[in-house]
Amino acid sequence: MAKRRVAVVVGARGVIGGNLIDHLEATGEWEIVGLSRRGGVDTDRVRHIAVDLLDEHDAAEKLSELRDVTHIFYAAYQDRPSWAELVAPNVAMLVNTVNAIEPVAAGLEHISLMQGYKVYGAHLGPFKTPARESDPPHMPPEFNVDQQQFLEDRQRGTRWTWSAIRPSVVCGFALGNPMNLALVIAVYATMSKELGVPLRFPGKPGAYTSLIEMTDAGLLAEATVWAATTPERANQAFNINNGDLFRWDEMLPKIAEFFELDVAPPLPMSMDVVMADKEPVWNGLVAKHGLEPTPYSDVSSWAFGDFVFGWDYDVIADGSKARRLGFHRHVETAQMFLDIFRDLRARKIIP
Ligand SMILES: NC(=O)c1ccc[n+]([C@@H]2O[C@H](COP(=O)([O-])OP(=O)(O)OC[C@H]3O[C@@H](n4cnc5c(N)ncnc54)[C@H](OP(=O)(O)O)[C@@H]3O)[C@@H](O)[C@H]2O)c1
Repeated sequence: MAKRRVAVVVGARGVIGGNLIDHLEATGEWEIVGLSRRGGVDTDRVRHIAVDLLDEHDAAEKLSELRDVTHIFYAAYQDRPSWAELVAPNVAMLVNTVNAIEPVAAGLEHISLMQGYKVYGAHLGPFKTPARESDPPHMPPEFNVDQQQFLEDRQRGTRWTWSAIRPSVVCGFALGNPMNLALVIAVYATMSKELGVPLRFPGKPGAYTSLIEMTDAGLLAEATVWAATTPERANQAFNINNGDLFRWDEMLPKIAEFFELDVAPPLPMSMDVVMADKEPVWNGLVAKHGLEPTPYSDVSSWAFGDFVFGWDYDVIADGSKARRLGFHRHVETAQMFLDIFRDLRARKIIP
């Protein structure tokens, strides 16, 4: 009989956590507990707990029953206006989670930590590329690094192991998330069409032609479980990306074709500013096409669009370590975008 596996997905309503739950559920091999403040709809295999992980007492009280947990998949996130301000809340949520579950879960085998290219300083400026897992750290503070340090220290002398997963920009279905590039592009293109304007790259001039890569949320979920379930992959980090590189000047025409739009030359602008007054346009689209009534705020990660489209330098990391150790799945990024747009249509989020 297969060993019983119980996963706690921390950040169950996130673009990463939500897609990880879908993957774990589809394998049929896991019992799953999802943690978020919002909670969620339970299924046969998934039970949601609404908890505020910033509150150590709430975490201790609500998570003390999780005695059967074998794997913790940590993908919660608290957004803040500056890089330095990200550290305290994001470290506190991880610490409160581990403090609440580790002492009661005698069969705990693994804690998986979701990180990103911020470990390499990708958000700060032109960093060394391709970034490798063995690259030296950059000037602190950096919440991903502090989280990993906490796990490494906490793991010493225990029976469980850890892994750290470093995706590029993650693309998959989710609503109401601060970092959701596929939705930014889908809604921007939809609004461009509604307003009768061609699709223009809104980022910095150099960003149109820099090399970049994406990480499909489904591929990421598979890689995360892969790294968490075999001893040889324990206690180390993995870059996880689709496996192909691209430049926006090549990608944008493919996206425009999907939405039946012309492409015009780039026009650098802040999406956060120019899309701020477009709520009535969105509400009009929802009414006209009978879409799911999704509030404009839930489809508006415009600041994240500005952030990603502002990278006028290459943002790439070497994903070969995971492939050398046996993770071979790859995703064609253009196809990934179109698949996500089709999914958004099928869910009646966009027309
Ligand atoms: N999205 C990307 O493109 C991307 C790329 C690379 C790396 N990453 C990294 O991956 C990690 C996860 O990112 P994400 O984009 O998936 O985040 P996200 O979509 O914002 O999801 C965050 C999750 O954390 C939960 N959460 C937030 N505060 C909480 C609290 N106080 N108590 C309990 N749950 C809480 C949220 O649910 P509630 O709001 O309901 O609480 C949500 O489920 C982050 O470290 C991020 O830096 C993301």
